[in-house]
Amino acid sequence: RIAYVNGAYVPHADAAIHIEDRGYQFADGVYEVCEIRHGFIVDLTRHLDRLGRSLSELRIDWPMSRAALTHVIREVVRRNRVRNGLFYMQVTRGVARRDHVFPAKDTAPTIVVTAKRTDTAAIARKGAEGISAITVPENRWDRVDIKSVGLLPNVLARQKAKEEGAQEAIFVDPDGTVKEGAATNVWIVDRDGVLRTRPADHGILRGITRTTLMDVARPLGIKIEERAFSVDEMLAAREVFITAATSICFPVVSIDGKPIGNGHPGSIAQNIREAFFDVAE
Ligand code: PDD
Repeated sequence: RIAYVNGAYVPHADAAIHIEDRGYQFADGVYEVCEIRHGFIVDLTRHLDRLGRSLSELRIDWPMSRAALTHVIREVVRRNRVRNGLFYMQVTRGVARRDHVFPAKDTAPTIVVTAKRTDTAAIARKGAEGISAITVPENRWDRVDIKSVGLLPNVLARQKAKEEGAQEAIFVDPDGTVKEGAATNVWIVDRDGVLRTRPADHGILRGITRTTLMDVARPLGIKIEERAFSVDEMLAAREVFITAATSICFPVVSIDGKPIGNGHPGSIAQNIREAFFDVAE
């Protein structure tokens, strides 16, 4: 495997970052994960737009022009011969002697781009069979709309899910409002058949898959509302599913050990999943 690190394509095993990189010391950086399907990068424009937004919110410079970065991404995907998989890119504020305040203006951001194949059969199986989730109290900061590499609450939540035999953890506010998964956005089909997801305020990441799902679902005649819902509404929903670049759309068939609907993937989640793959064909 080949990785791109600060201007060079290097074997993955030799790729390295300085010990005083601010990403390493302060999680002072942002990232994107994008799907590669049949050799195409899905929604690259939207991912680059979001990267730019995350960078500007944290006042980190672009590591290179958007056009140059696009070229690097395509080159990494090509050199790794990934037809179906994911690419990862991370930009940090760069290397400087440890000090909380921003380093000197001429400090170059660190950029890393990698690509890997994914187990498409395993993803398809989860898409068809559904997954289970747990709920966890929201304990993240109030700017999770920025796709920062500071993911400790997400890591601990996913680990807790795993230890409880589930695949995703869903963050819930103290008032019982559902936020999002540890690495996914959450959707319900409510009792009226309306597809609902929480508005993309500062309290969740505006998922690219979330945005694209809205494009995909509308022609199917599905009514969509960006309106928050409670844990009780989620448990009583006809369907629950999660979306992310890594999974596209996974039905959630049980939450905190309780079945959702009849305990099997719902038809809306499945129709949307199929429609997604049609779009990319
Ligand atoms: N995570 N919410 C959170 C907290 C996320 O980390 C992600 C994605 C999403 C979905 O965003 P998108 O549809 O753009 O992938 C929502 C990536 C995949 C990750 O950290 O691996």
